[in-house]
Amino acid sequence: MIIGVPREIKNGETRVSMTPNLCRRLVAMRKRVLIERDAGRSAGFLDREYEQAGAEIAADPDDVWGAADLVLKVKEPLEGEFERMREGQTLFTYLHLAAAPALGQALKRKRVLGIAYETVEAADGSLPLLKPMSQIAGRLAVQVGAYFLQSQNGGSGVLLGGIPGTSPGRVVILGAGNSGAHACRMATGMGAHVTVLDVDSRKLDALDAEYHGRIVTLVSNPANVERALAESDLLIGAVLIPAARAPIVATRDMVGAMRDGGVVVDIAIDQGGCIETIHPTSHEEPTYVVQGVVHYAVPNMPAMVGRTSTIALTQATEPFVVALADKGVERALAEHPGLARGVNTRDGSIVHPQVAAVLGG
Ligand SMILES: NC(=O)c1ccc[n+]([C@@H]2O[C@H](COP(=O)([O-])OP(=O)(O)OC[C@H]3O[C@@H](n4cnc5c(N)ncnc54)[C@H](O)[C@@H]3O)[C@@H](O)[C@H]2O)c1
Repeated sequence: MIIGVPREIKNGETRVSMTPNLCRRLVAMRKRVLIERDAGRSAGFLDREYEQAGAEIAADPDDVWGAADLVLKVKEPLEGEFERMREGQTLFTYLHLAAAPALGQALKRKRVLGIAYETVEAADGSLPLLKPMSQIAGRLAVQVGAYFLQSQNGGSGVLLGGIPGTSPGRVVILGAGNSGAHACRMATGMGAHVTVLDVDSRKLDALDAEYHGRIVTLVSNPANVERALAESDLLIGAVLIPAARAPIVATRDMVGAMRDGGVVVDIAIDQGGCIETIHPTSHEEPTYVVQGVVHYAVPNMPAMVGRTSTIALTQATEPFVVALADKGVERALAEHPGLARGVNTRDGSIVHPQVAAVLGG
């Protein structure tokens, strides 16, 4: 089996899908590994480290895509990459097809076996390949929010933690899952006033127990979201309905009720976003203003910390990559039901039930 690692081309992306350590392990299993030149550079992994680990370096992305039986990536293929995909190939990466119908069409047309990191499941039904990036994005959301609240960056000039004698900033987090819980940890660590809303009461129970009354937890319904958002400084969108488009949880009117110069960070933008006024932004142009509120919605936030993110992501993908390489794709899928849940496209169709419900088969 030839395993190919293209350099990521999404705006501002710094992650790579394979570290030299994982490469060494695959080469020891007698697999051929082809890495595009400089694929790991922005994560601090140099070509010579991959060469020392036994990889071949390819100057041209076409050489990687053309030869690879299994293409390992981080972000979903972009339009410039659609024509490089070929029939019979397996692609293992984040796909987020519910928000990328053109990619869904391309994967069908090219009859690629598309396995999406974000729908691979662990035995308990959790999403092990989404988790580490969500944790990172959750933590970054508070850093980013604090930065854009600064006056020179277009914000209201509120310091999230305040100081003794002043009110702390008010942070509202929609969703108490992986990203929401880690946003909560950062925001409370900074001393902000934090409210977390979720539809799953078990998630709220867990946070309430962890923070001993230092945060407010609320059931997510329109009345509670509206009340929490009035006079808030930072709104973080962190909801997920697996494989589906994110539901709109905060409406335009609710965002309008935030303080002037408030900030919205919608982590869920990769599934379409959970805030009515949101649309995707990029690392190059990360924000825009609606109703006096700064909006940030970069779909690849973990790229801001490419080194940490690459190590965290590849540690999570490694057992699955090793299974695919060791057993071959079909046997690995047959023996690992959780990995099989990752299959989104096969033989020219969208086969994941929730993704098909959004895009059609
Ligand atoms: N922008 C980025 O760079 C980036 C990075 C990583 C993850 N993400 C995305 O962040 C999103 C969240 O991921 P996660 O791992 O935290 O998911 P998760 O499944 O761990 O948590 C999502 C939470 O949302 C809750 N939820 C569902 N509907 C809700 C509603 N109407 N109101 C309030 N809560 C609701 C769920 O009960 C769950 O607790 C996903 O779309 C993921 O792809 C984005």
